[in-house]
Amino acid sequence: MKGCVFDLDGVITDTAKFHFAAWSQLAKEKLNLELPASFETELKGVSRIDSLNRILKFGGVKDDYTDEQVQAMAAEKNGYYLKAIEKLTRDDILPGINDLIAQLKEHHVLMALASASKNAPAILEKLGLMDAFDAIADPAKVAHGKPAPDIFLAGAAAINLDPSECVGVEDAVAGVQSIKDAGMVAVAVGDAHELAKADKVVPTTADFSYDLFEETYEQAHK
Ligand code: BG6
Ligand code: MG
Repeated sequence: MKGCVFDLDGVITDTAKFHFAAWSQLAKEKLNLELPASFETELKGVSRIDSLNRILKFGGVKDDYTDEQVQAMAAEKNGYYLKAIEKLTRDDILPGINDLIAQLKEHHVLMALASASKNAPAILEKLGLMDAFDAIADPAKVAHGKPAPDIFLAGAAAINLDPSECVGVEDAVAGVQSIKDAGMVAVAVGDAHELAKADKVVPTTADFSYDLFEETYEQAHK
């Protein structure tokens, strides 16, 4: 393993809950729609506009809004989300992540970020992790969002590595699909059943380590 390409939301910090809370608020206020808790999994890793389209489809109102209205709703959701993450600090880095970063650096493994979030640089700044990554792939510059492989391919390219030399790290079903279709080994955090397409699934980020990633990589390349 020469490189590690990370998702952000739900892997480095627990912002997944804030995304879902913001979508739930928007759905309730603008669409008079209650999002079931099960929808959280479905929206993980999915871009802002694709998430809103899925919600509109779920509510059966996909054709009721103009593009401008859809854009305005997406912006409104982002407003709620930004308010929720205002107070993020280093203390909000998930367990095990700081140690993992230190171990990867010790082993000279390059690190890239492959988040679907346009807020990723601002979040890394709040977490004090801006300098930890060798590159940040820009989701605005890729043609297709997760589950397409584009953003993970961009992450590997940004650290000048072939995807086959990298491990991708995710918490989302869409993200694991993206990693696998990019030709990378996938380590996932969350529910083993939901994330079964990953090469390795652990229940918490506290289980992440250089050794786990390296073993998973070697096993997958046998
Ligand atoms: C992903 C989140 O990381 O980023 C999704 O898992 C989110 O829930 C997506 O929709 C886009 O984020 P943003 O910050 O650009 O709206
Ligand atoms: Mg995620």
